[in-house]
Amino acid sequence: MTVRAKIYRLLDSESLESASQRMRGLEVVINLIGIVLVSVGTLEALSPNARAIAAFITGVVAFLFFVEYLTRLWVAPEAPHSATATSTNSRIRWAFSIGGIIDLLAIIPALAAASGSARLGAESASVFVLLWVLKLATRVAGVKLIGRVIRNERSSLAAVAALFLIVLFSAATIAHWLEAESQPQHFGSIPTSLWWAVVTLTTTGYGDAVPVSALGRMLGGLVMLCGISVLALLSGILANGFAEELRRREFVRIWDLVARVPFFSDVGAIAIADIVSRLRSRSFPAGATVIREGETGDSMFFLVNGTVMVRRGLFSKLLYEGQFFGEMALLDRKPRTADVTTQTPCTVLVLNVADFYHLAGQQPGLVSAIEAEAKRRRMTSVDTTTC
Ligand code: CMP
Repeated sequence: MTVRAKIYRLLDSESLESASQRMRGLEVVINLIGIVLVSVGTLEALSPNARAIAAFITGVVAFLFFVEYLTRLWVAPEAPHSATATSTNSRIRWAFSIGGIIDLLAIIPALAAASGSARLGAESASVFVLLWVLKLATRVAGVKLIGRVIRNERSSLAAVAALFLIVLFSAATIAHWLEAESQPQHFGSIPTSLWWAVVTLTTTGYGDAVPVSALGRMLGGLVMLCGISVLALLSGILANGFAEELRRREFVRIWDLVARVPFFSDVGAIAIADIVSRLRSRSFPAGATVIREGETGDSMFFLVNGTVMVRRGLFSKLLYEGQFFGEMALLDRKPRTADVTTQTPCTVLVLNVADFYHLAGQQPGLVSAIEAEAKRRRMTSVDTTTC
């Protein structure tokens, strides 16, 4: 792999590799430092020295953004969709994408700082702090997730928005009929009544416009109840959308991990989808105890990466990427037969006991392969312990 491809992977916002995730974390931290310092720099009470330090660090942050912009421009041809385009076209395409434009605007304070004093940099940055917030939004996974959820749920959200508008305009019109005579300043026209309707429907209740007639107050109560229902509906749609999107992402992530375990390589696409939906991933640091001898076993593990040590009395054995452990307690319904500790940082796929028995019914071939390996292991452990 070329250096450019490696850097592209490091900066790839979709990558699940730990180095990329650390890089994203670093970018977010630098971005946050920049935003906080620019905001602090606008405080009147700040001493000239503190202001100069804040301006200097802001300039450094903006310079780092500048370097990042150039790097992203350089690695743009490595994007998967750029395979058929020329390097120049890929770079132009990235430069004119939303992310590219925001990144470009975010470095303007750096250019200002380069052309003048560090102080100028801070002042320019205060103008562009909004762009730094936008840049942050393009890096934070949660914000992208919100965008995806809104896109997925757009038809339900549009239905709720339509409902909101129907109630809003009906409430404003009826309030205008009922209250226009006694309070022309607040309800004299439908547009002026709309302010009261929005404030009531969203249950904000500033209290600047209040219906005074009995019918008007009844209408107010009704609008508040409608507001609560509409907001509840909106929260339900968004919560459900979030849960579904997270489930989908987890599925893709696990799918990716399963592909690295050769044990599953012969399983067909439909069966693998069933297996993927039953596996959870877990990461352990080096030296962690994953299984303790004598404990009740409620799950088995597939080692996606890293090395673990199996220990029982004098017997010890290393297990590597692609191997599994913790199957014996599930097969024999007996306590764990050995300690299993991680030798390096490890990622494992966990299959709990209920899902193990479900798979035994659905995928007898897989479970017999696990059984065969367990049988072989039992013999090895016995041989070694008796030696
Ligand atoms: P279990 O008994 O559930 O928990 C301890 C695990 O260590 C056991 O399942 C096996 O997965 C693993 N283990 C035990 N003996 C051996 C062996 N001889 N070789 C490899 N792994 C083993």
